[in-house]
Amino acid sequence: MKLLRDIVSVRRWRQGCKKRVVLVPTMGALHRGHTELMRLARKKAGPGGKVAASVFVNPTQFGPSEDFQAYPRPLEADLAACRQAGVDAVFVPEPAAMYTNDRSVSVCEDSLSKVLCGRSRAGHFNGVCTVVAKLFNILQPTHAVFGEKDWQQLAIIRRMVQDLDFPVEIVACPTIRETDGLALSSRNSYLSPAERAAAPKIQAALRSASGLASRAAIENHAARLIKKIPGAKIDYISAVDAATLAPLKNRKTPGRLCAAIHLGRARLIDNIPLPREK
Ligand code: PAF
Repeated sequence: MKLLRDIVSVRRWRQGCKKRVVLVPTMGALHRGHTELMRLARKKAGPGGKVAASVFVNPTQFGPSEDFQAYPRPLEADLAACRQAGVDAVFVPEPAAMYTNDRSVSVCEDSLSKVLCGRSRAGHFNGVCTVVAKLFNILQPTHAVFGEKDWQQLAIIRRMVQDLDFPVEIVACPTIRETDGLALSSRNSYLSPAERAAAPKIQAALRSASGLASRAAIENHAARLIKKIPGAKIDYISAVDAATLAPLKNRKTPGRLCAAIHLGRARLIDNIPLPREK
C-alpha cells in the first residue's frame, strides 16, 4: 500500500492507474463502517482497478463549537485498517497542503444543505462539498463510495456531481450496524455505558414509525418513543423525499426517515428507508 502525503505524489500515482480508481474519502478513526466502504470499493474497482482512500480531518466542515480538536486521529491504526481492507493507496495530506491562508473559493450547495443537519450545522456541508471537490480534482477517481449513514451528505454529493459535471460515479454503501442495531460511528466512543445501551432504541423507534401512512404520524410516533430514552434530546426527526430532502408529501416517491439525537456528549445521526407504497 502506498502512503501519499502530498498532491504531487498523488498525481504521479494516479498517472500509473490505467483502469478504474475508486476513492473512499474518510476523516480517519476508521471502524468497520469504513472498512465495508473499502471492501465495496475493492469490488467496484474490478480486476486491475485501484482503491484509494483519503484520511483527512477536514477543518472547514466543523463549526467553532464542534469537536475538531478532539476528533480522534489514530493514524497508525487507520493505515493498518486500510492495508487490511485491500486499499492500494492512502492520501494523508497535511492541512496546509489542502488549504492555503489566502483561499477564497469554496463549493456552496444552496438547497439540500439548508435542512436536517444543515439547520444546526451552518457551513458544514459547504465544507464537505469543498473538500470532496478538491479530493475529486486531486485524485481524479472514476468512482467514489459514500455511506448511507449520512444520507444528507450522500444526497448533497450526488447533487454536486450532477450540477458541476464531475466525471465520477457515486456509489452508496448501506449503513453498517452493531448487532443491536446501533449504526457504527466514530462518535459512538463518546457514549457512556448506559447511553451506549440505550442508543439502539433510536433506530428501533425509526423502524417502528416507518410503516405509518403520513409524514406527521411517522415523525410524531418516532419522537414519542425517542423522548422516552433517558438523556436523549431530539435535534430533528424528519420524513423527507430521499433525493431532494424536501418534506415527504406522500408515500408515492421513495422517502427517508432521518434523525439527529443528542445523547450525552454524542450527537447521533441515523436514517432508514421509507419505501414507496404500491
Ligand atoms: O463522511 C466523512 O467522513 C466526511 O464528511 C468526508 C466525506 C470524508 C469529507 O471530509
